[in-house]
Amino acid sequence: MNSITELFGPSITELELKTVMDAMQNGWYGSQKYWYVEKFEREFAQYHGRKYAMMTPNCTSAIHLLLLGLGIGPGDEVIVPECTWIASATNITHIGAKTVFADIDENTWCMSAESLERVITPKTKAVIVVDLYGNMPDMDAIRSVTKKHGIYLIEDAAGALGSVYRDKRAGSFGIGSVFSFHRTKTITTGEGGMLLIDDQKLYERCHFLRDHGRSRDKHYFNDEVAYKYMPCNLLGSLGYAQFQRVEELVQAKRHLLECYRLVFADVPDLYLNPEPPEGRNGAWCTALIFGRSHKINKEYIISELAKRGFEGRPFFYPLSSMPAYGSRGAEMALKNPIAYDLSCRGICLPAAFRTSDTQLLEYSNAIRSVLGLAPKIDLNE
Ligand SMILES: Cc1ncc(COP(=O)(O)O)c(C=O)c1O
Repeated sequence: MNSITELFGPSITELELKTVMDAMQNGWYGSQKYWYVEKFEREFAQYHGRKYAMMTPNCTSAIHLLLLGLGIGPGDEVIVPECTWIASATNITHIGAKTVFADIDENTWCMSAESLERVITPKTKAVIVVDLYGNMPDMDAIRSVTKKHGIYLIEDAAGALGSVYRDKRAGSFGIGSVFSFHRTKTITTGEGGMLLIDDQKLYERCHFLRDHGRSRDKHYFNDEVAYKYMPCNLLGSLGYAQFQRVEELVQAKRHLLECYRLVFADVPDLYLNPEPPEGRNGAWCTALIFGRSHKINKEYIISELAKRGFEGRPFFYPLSSMPAYGSRGAEMALKNPIAYDLSCRGICLPAAFRTSDTQLLEYSNAIRSVLGLAPKIDLNE
């Protein structure tokens, strides 16, 4: 393997080491038990213009809590886009509701409002839109559909920290939104997530469900059989420290996206993460879509990269095409053609914080060589 063997990885500095050490030494007793978690929650909510934030063990459990808090269950339908990590969708099954797949938009790679409207039925309770790889869907159009049909809008902003759409931050849309602090994300706690909510009753319900349905009035007394999705102060301290560096980290991600733009600027019919209207892409992960004229698919590119010593990561497969959702590719490719087409032609590019410009150039030149193009010697060449 070449010098880039890690596609993802965090940026950890003295600040994180010192903060976690402080939590290790002092964060166990009295008001210190959840001190970092609570500070992190407060500042994270504030940054996103939300009233409440709740840290969770991961983003997947944040989605679960929100669906439970909204009272969605058997007999209900929830819509998700075809192209996303499976975590956006799994909890729909776990709560006993039906998963319905919508198509994506060719330009944003996120759910399209037209497709969303097409799959709404009287049983639809919610839609989970995904800010894929830091991209943003056409939120104005999505919101007008959810309002018209009276369904909940949930924003899966797992990978969209720092993205902005029309001056509003990713994570500020809908009844609730979720973030991931997985090892691969822009800010990380190894595993971790955050649920953002504005409605007080919904917040209280999710809060209650997060810790075994404990009674408010009586110690060690449980009102319902609920869940154990409590955060940990050590992880909270890491998240808090990382979050102090949010702008620096988002700028580092954007630097990678901008470098990829430079390296591929001379190649027609290649597409990288777009900037949202009147906003910016937080660029958690730069993806590259090969236009149809290249007559190339992701498996071929990934196998050619492997021959050159580089690891490749595919664009998300349409969920309905996989065994987990019944391998329904033949039927669903007709219903959601853009997701099926675009997914075949996309890969994700190295996004680790320690990726140097030289490594980025080496990787990009490997792609250029698969396309039969001369290497670039310099990013600005
Ligand atoms: C779009 C999306 N949603 C949800 C998740 C789940 O996040 P976690 O691994 O923190 O549960 C991910 C993880 O990568 C994701 O990419």
